[in-house]
Amino acid sequence: MNKKGMLSIATAVVLGLGAAGCGSNSSAPAASTKADTAATEAASASTQAEAAAPSGDVANKDKPLTWFNRQPSNSSTGELDKDALNYNANTYYVGFDANQGAELQGQMVADYIQANADTIDRNGDGIIGYVLAIGDIGHNDSIARTRGVRKALGTAVEKDGAIDSQPVGTNVDGTATDVQDAELKVGDKTFKVRELASQEMKNSAGATWDAATAGNAIGTWSSSFGDQIDIVVSNNDGMGMSMFNAWSKDKKVPTFGYDANSDAVAAIADGYGGTISQHADVQAYLTLRTLRNALDGVDIDTGIGTADEAGNVLTDDVYRYDADARSYYALNVAVTADNYQDFTDATKTYAPVSNQLDASKHPTKKVWLDIYNAADNFLSATYQPLLQNYDDLLNLDVDYIGGDGQTESNITNRLGNPSQYDAFAINMVKTDNAAAYTSLLNQ
Ligand code: BGC
Ligand code: CA
Repeated sequence: MNKKGMLSIATAVVLGLGAAGCGSNSSAPAASTKADTAATEAASASTQAEAAAPSGDVANKDKPLTWFNRQPSNSSTGELDKDALNYNANTYYVGFDANQGAELQGQMVADYIQANADTIDRNGDGIIGYVLAIGDIGHNDSIARTRGVRKALGTAVEKDGAIDSQPVGTNVDGTATDVQDAELKVGDKTFKVRELASQEMKNSAGATWDAATAGNAIGTWSSSFGDQIDIVVSNNDGMGMSMFNAWSKDKKVPTFGYDANSDAVAAIADGYGGTISQHADVQAYLTLRTLRNALDGVDIDTGIGTADEAGNVLTDDVYRYDADARSYYALNVAVTADNYQDFTDATKTYAPVSNQLDASKHPTKKVWLDIYNAADNFLSATYQPLLQNYDDLLNLDVDYIGGDGQTESNITNRLGNPSQYDAFAINMVKTDNAAAYTSLLNQ
């Protein structure tokens, strides 16, 4: 086990604090300028045209396709699936910047420790103990978040040139090899920081990011070493809120998640430590906007980096485009006690892109869209409601298919007749499984 270099890691943690603190503050106002008035006015002014029959002359394999939320990639190595991302000339991915968000999340927790050093060590043993709920060990967003937290807290160890993201199981004695104890100096105090436990929250049926499993895990952990847990961290709010409600709210143990779901943001008033907005309002827009542009045969940047005729446009503080990966990434914003009032409704459209498109110029088209797991908190409580707000604004008639989170066939079985649709938006169960969908479009 590598305990060397503890000091330098601790120093890096301290140095990193200032920089990320500025970043999170400066990006907060952009996300807080949401206004629902524009959306409401635009929606009421809209006259939806009848869905035109899909044009029979476009082969399914040439129809617009946008992957979202789970980037086609190898679930063991993280390597992007370039075939899937370049399936046809109108294929894109929409997600968020996983590394930038992961860094923000880690920093948010580290900032909290610094600011609360007087009270954070609940049992006074000199160790700041945290537990970590991991969503899906084969999902690159989950991997990035685990790495971001370990890096910011100094508990990360390198393996094959990257930060080890494996769960440790329990590590109450600090002997695990996938993490190390960090040393943290705050003022004249020196603490150890230890990852007491971490686990992939996968239920017996195979569903990952499983909130109920996380609720059970905190029950098990707290009953055997509860007084040592000073902080709870989760790869997402679904699991984080489950742990908060099951244990940490009562015990007043700060709990940190990711996604800025409305219930998690509201819980900040009750002691939830904080969360990260992955700007789902921008992602949901991009998911449908990329399809709309392809269907209209206009430049893909229309209504994105370049204003459309209705005035919809995004600024580069909320997203970036990686042409090589054909991927749009929304940027993340930390949501804490300082700014959570600006994030209370996660389903509100983003004002700068909430203008109704003219149905005579952008006639209604039919879209098939699936959510890999209808029970996923983020996708069902935040992302899909946003999509449903944008589909009207963009004149898209979307069929929403909810999967079981476990088997791809549960979803692909419901793509029996792709010829009925003009475009597709796909959220896979497993990031390796793009071909299960494209093979249906190839027929
Ligand atoms: C979200 C998780 C969600 C997952 C589903 C992530 O981006 O943060 O909450 O479970 O997507 O793929
Ligand atoms: Ca302690």
